[in-house]
Amino acid sequence: MNSSASQEQRLPHIPVMVSEVLQYLNPQPNGTYLDGTVGAGGHATQILNQLSSNGRLIGIDRDAEALEICDQHFGASARPISVHQSSYHNFPVILEQLGISKVNGILLDLGLSSIQLNSETRGFSFESDGQLDMRFNRNSGETAAELISRSNEQELADIIFQFGEERHSRKIARSIKSFSNLTSVADLKEAVRRSTPPHQRRKTLARVFQAIRIAVNGELDNLAVFLDRFINYLSVGGRVVIMSYHSLEDRMVKHSFRNLKQSGQLKVLIKKPLIPSEDEQAQNSRARSAKLRAAERIT
Ligand SMILES: C[S@@+](CC[C@H](N)C(=O)[O-])C[C@H]1O[C@@H](n2cnc3c(N)ncnc32)[C@H](O)[C@@H]1O
Repeated sequence: MNSSASQEQRLPHIPVMVSEVLQYLNPQPNGTYLDGTVGAGGHATQILNQLSSNGRLIGIDRDAEALEICDQHFGASARPISVHQSSYHNFPVILEQLGISKVNGILLDLGLSSIQLNSETRGFSFESDGQLDMRFNRNSGETAAELISRSNEQELADIIFQFGEERHSRKIARSIKSFSNLTSVADLKEAVRRSTPPHQRRKTLARVFQAIRIAVNGELDNLAVFLDRFINYLSVGGRVVIMSYHSLEDRMVKHSFRNLKQSGQLKVLIKKPLIPSEDEQAQNSRARSAKLRAAERIT
């Protein structure tokens, strides 16, 4: 095993582009920050290191298991962090509950964590062996198996094409619907195997699983709601940093920042999105598709 592979196995989730996140979020010791996808707290730990006891970090995640790891990690310490199980697009409700009207910075690190991807029971990975769940919050909403069951062939083809950018989407959707009761990772893999050529099968599988996960969790809808709202909760001089792992998400962030720039509210801090260094990409294969954009509220 090479050293990067062993590092990936040791850590539950390796945070991506940490120094770039800190550079652009630029946490001030007494500032209030929101980490909308706190996960296992990799970035949160680094942000907290820069805060004084008068600073504050609010962490949100949909995943109770990730928040449990955060609680274990931060719970016993006197660090100024509170974590909340919710979707980040609901952050105004959480801020209101905490009596906070504006924050000095917001971080979103979209997509899923290695903890979720590596889980044998949650169905996120085509390399796992469980049932097709794929929900970030296991206590709410429909599972991937339920979504597949209630969607017709055309709807499934659209999901696979739009969110997975997979050109065999129609054939795959037909194959999925030919199963009388498709509920497991193994079933979905078999449906893809029957309908696609063998070369590049892993890429096809990755695209199909990604597409269904995005649909199950309404990921693009959540991002759209967030992008409509965040500016009103950012103080002047406050920063927003968003890391995405899907071209559709990156495009949404780019357009939102551009519109807010045109209305004079936001300064875009990076023209082209940042990507991880070659070193980081070599050490952490999951970082490879990351794109980071950052902006600052100016009025
Ligand atoms: C890439 S991981 C974040 C990792 C984190 N930055 C760290 O360093 O540990 C993405 C996280 O976002 C969470 N997530 C995805 N969609 C979400 C949403 N709409 N609201 C809140 N959390 C969400 C996932 O559950 C996952 O834990």
